[in-house]
Amino acid sequence: MTEPVAILRQAPAAEGQHRKLKIGILRYNPQEPESVPHMQTYDLEEADGMTLFIALNEIRETQDASLHFDFVCRAGICGSCAMVINGRPALACRTLTKNLGPEISLAPLPVFELIADLSVNTGKWMRAMSERLEGWVHMKEKEVDLSRIEERMEPELAQQIYELDRCIECGCCVAGCGTARMREDFVGAVGLNKIARFRLDPRDTRGDDDFYELIGDDNGVFGCMSLLACHDVCPKELPLATQIAFMRRKMVAMGWK
Ligand code: SF4
Ligand code: F3S
Ligand code: FES
Repeated sequence: MTEPVAILRQAPAAEGQHRKLKIGILRYNPQEPESVPHMQTYDLEEADGMTLFIALNEIRETQDASLHFDFVCRAGICGSCAMVINGRPALACRTLTKNLGPEISLAPLPVFELIADLSVNTGKWMRAMSERLEGWVHMKEKEVDLSRIEERMEPELAQQIYELDRCIECGCCVAGCGTARMREDFVGAVGLNKIARFRLDPRDTRGDDDFYELIGDDNGVFGCMSLLACHDVCPKELPLATQIAFMRRKMVAMGWK
């Protein structure tokens, strides 16, 4: 198996060049007792505009129907195709092979439950995190008042909320974070971003104390060691490090430690 660092140093394709790609995939299916983790390499002819989504589909159609991976939207919207590409979490449907060297390594996102090969259960992790953080708008009324949901808000505020709402729950920030690898219940940058988003929402009746109660420990903002990988790998370029640093400063000023 080629070292990931060496792969990262390989030159991308020159314009119009069709290369022979070697795609190494970490194969393992925990549902099959005889399955053992191993790297399997597939040879593939590169095509114009080829993404890893196209490459993986071609491998599955022409070489190995047993290969597991997830895609839904193919447009960087659903978050389901995140995987570790040459050692870095990213979306396969938004990754052009021409920007990578001819030897590519693919592995499933760590932290999340492995389904098989490149397919992981991010939904289970995201749901548990969201339940712990009560990741929904808490309105005063018992019955949801639809007219209030549509209440006007200042465009600048709506824009700020929209900016944080662009998270597609792909899991890249969690997979790239050292703390998430060590702490099973760490809510990750995706969870901290969720709190930042609801904190801004004027319809949510929770105050700062309520929000910070949810993230004021080592599984929340004080577990973050400012490793910044979340910020570097987020495919939606959310301002994760800025949001985490802001909340931490605010909480310390309010007497949280
Ligand atoms: Fe993905 Fe970014 Fe959301 Fe993390 S914050 S889950 S990297 S979109
Ligand atoms: Fe992890 Fe990001 Fe903090 S990578 S340690 S959540 S800054
Ligand atoms: Fe939906 Fe890649 S398939 S983000």
